[in-house]
Amino acid sequence: MKVNGTPYRSIWLGADGRTVQIIDQTRLPHDFPVVDLTTMEEAALAIRDMWVRGAPLIGATAAYGMALQMAGDPSDTGLARAYEVLHATRPTAINLRWALDDMRALLSPLAPADRADAAYARAAAICDEDVEINRRIGAHGLTLIETIAARKPGPVNILTHCNAGWLATVDWGTATSPIYQAVEKGIEVHVWVDETRPRNQGAHLTSWEMASHGIPHHLIVDNAGGHLMQRGQVDLCIVGTDRTTANGDVCNKIGTYLKALAAHDNGVPFYVALPSPTIDWRVRDGLSEIPIEERHGDEVTKLWGRDPEGRVTQVQIAPDATEGANPAFDVTPARLVTGLITERGIAEASAEGLAAMFPEHAATAAE
Ligand code: MRU
Repeated sequence: MKVNGTPYRSIWLGADGRTVQIIDQTRLPHDFPVVDLTTMEEAALAIRDMWVRGAPLIGATAAYGMALQMAGDPSDTGLARAYEVLHATRPTAINLRWALDDMRALLSPLAPADRADAAYARAAAICDEDVEINRRIGAHGLTLIETIAARKPGPVNILTHCNAGWLATVDWGTATSPIYQAVEKGIEVHVWVDETRPRNQGAHLTSWEMASHGIPHHLIVDNAGGHLMQRGQVDLCIVGTDRTTANGDVCNKIGTYLKALAAHDNGVPFYVALPSPTIDWRVRDGLSEIPIEERHGDEVTKLWGRDPEGRVTQVQIAPDATEGANPAFDVTPARLVTGLITERGIAEASAEGLAAMFPEHAATAAE
């Protein structure tokens, strides 16, 4: 997508063909720093400290992390270490393991001398595939927006949570791809952006994406969605996911479940944009089988923002003695999900729906 008229992806290679470049997303929306990653350890740090985040981009960065390692130490030991270090960065987004498994399966049988070029080529292909997957998700999701636009006057009001935008993927975003494509087609949309405490990915990132593309939007506190749905001011919810089980249970940023409950109670369609690498075919029950990342309590008791003098600073919002508890993701049971917008079409959120859409994985899911 474009930033001040210049097309960007969220991850790309520098002029030397080896250095990986990313946007430090912890500094948005007040600054737009491009950062060089030159070692596997730097790629791991960028994922762990959330300079890059969002399930698909975590996977793409891990793939390039493997490539950086192969450029420095392509031995079997180096390969095993890169897998281990990168895998330990963040536990919930399954795209991380998916990308690492993919890279290891490709690289292991190769002679060490051949591994770096192969790793860079595959990491680039993973990025290109992500862009195409998200473009297709957008085309399928667009039909939902078109249907609503055809039956009501005024804008289609879409609520989204966290940032499942182009910054969370290599390009387009998942939940935002239908929105970008609707706007390109001239359909009037308005986006309710959940702020998404504690890290405020909605406030910092989704709002920035919407503002950069001139898409009408309002930032709302996380508690406002239910109220807006009761008043008929939300036509459609579209969120992303960090891991969806073979049964269609959806793990996503903390607070997603409450939005799904409110949507269910108010008859608002609740869709999840789901690239196939985000499906964990090995697990069925989202509540018991998905590890939920616990992050530092300081993210809850403190906030980052820009002061009136333009300085980006952190403030404490709770008493010194209060500790924050910070589960970063929750699980929305499949029964609350209206549909899964995949690159192949819109699937029912169920074992049968996913198996019919991705028959090549049905056997793994049945094991
Ligand atoms: O903790 P984050 O910012 O990595 O969480 C991101 C989300 O929860 C997104 O909704 C999800 O990764 C889908 S991104 C297309």
